[in-house]
Amino acid sequence: MLINNVDFDTYFKNYPDENGYFGRYGGAYISEELKAAMQEIRDAYFTIAQSRQFIAELRRIRKEFQGRPTPVSHLERLSNKLGNVQLYVKREDLNHTGAHKLNHCMGEVLLAKYMGKKKVIAETGAGQHGVAMATAAAYFGMECDIYMGSEDIKKQAPNVARMKILGANVVEVTDGQATLKEAVDAAFAAYAREYKNCIYCIGSVVGPHPFPMMVRDFQHVVGEEAREQFVDMTGHLPDAIVACVGGGSNAAGFFSGFLNDPVDIYGVEPLGRGTALGDHAASLQYGTEGVMHGFNSVMLKDENGEPAPVYSVASGLDYPSSGPEHAFLRDIGRVKYDVINDEETIDAFYALSRMEGIIPAIESAHAVAYGIKLAQKLDKGSVLINLSGRGDKDMDYIIEKYGIR
Ligand SMILES: Cc1ncc(COP(=O)(O)O)c(C=O)c1O
Repeated sequence: MLINNVDFDTYFKNYPDENGYFGRYGGAYISEELKAAMQEIRDAYFTIAQSRQFIAELRRIRKEFQGRPTPVSHLERLSNKLGNVQLYVKREDLNHTGAHKLNHCMGEVLLAKYMGKKKVIAETGAGQHGVAMATAAAYFGMECDIYMGSEDIKKQAPNVARMKILGANVVEVTDGQATLKEAVDAAFAAYAREYKNCIYCIGSVVGPHPFPMMVRDFQHVVGEEAREQFVDMTGHLPDAIVACVGGGSNAAGFFSGFLNDPVDIYGVEPLGRGTALGDHAASLQYGTEGVMHGFNSVMLKDENGEPAPVYSVASGLDYPSSGPEHAFLRDIGRVKYDVINDEETIDAFYALSRMEGIIPAIESAHAVAYGIKLAQKLDKGSVLINLSGRGDKDMDYIIEKYGIR
């Protein structure tokens, strides 16, 4: 399939290019010292991670430890209530630790083990990446430091407890807004000090090359499984697929299974409280080109051109940028990016819980809300939504802030 001169038959061979660019986005904007560290990770990824032994070990771990493949479920009651469109969800909430994040964490930490590293460093927003990282570190017997903003620590207490139980060291970050962006800043600074003994395992398809590519590739399993399962269940491809986009890892992996298919693809960003700067985190919708955290992509900027404060009810989505591949797929028109606000998200959270017996993560509820909107707009067809995680971590917060509806 050819779209705007991009050939999707050979897409994964050509994107990113050897310097980590998806069109104009991506690259590695980092200090000389970190360049050597990234080169080491890149070389290891292209040699070790492509070896038969590595692939076989990761495949075994996914099956025996993570519980993959995760199923696809038909949302029969919700679909019938909405009309003629059939909604389905890919159940990453059933992946071990309750979200898609473990898919790339097991890959990254397995790579760290093969590289002879003793320690892993990571940042976390909602705590899902932190929990997944702490789990992977425990599994492989590595030391683990997780950087987390104090605002997120307050909001995500159960995940903080989980990380500590798993043996990780949770490092509180109090700078600026004390959320995900500051946690990434602090984790990068720590990595620059300690890179000889450890690797930084970034939590999404962001950061300098090779992370956007590596994390997408480790998440590809989601799209690959979902495509095969959906075709087995229904005999055809879905008409549309939907995923939420923070940094963009669940979406990148899920979309990668369908990029070369005649399927409409939608990425959903958080509109939070509204369109004013500071009230949302919809960087693909309202951002402009800019460099942060070592990569060039879209960015929400303040009046000085620095990353702007962002907000979303979902801690895992409040990041002022998105992965470079998403900016590229937006520009060439392969993926349509749209927004869902907090209220629509909470309605979808309750709709999925009440009508299907599945409590979604607030991040994933953004995608569910968009799937519901699509079902109301289209008069027939099928929509497959990536349910990136489960909502146990969000229950106390939702009850306190929105009450039982
Ligand atoms: C359940 C869940 N979904 C989605 C996200 C957003 O991350 P990404 O856009 O990288 O998938 C997070 C981040 O913490 C998450 O916990």
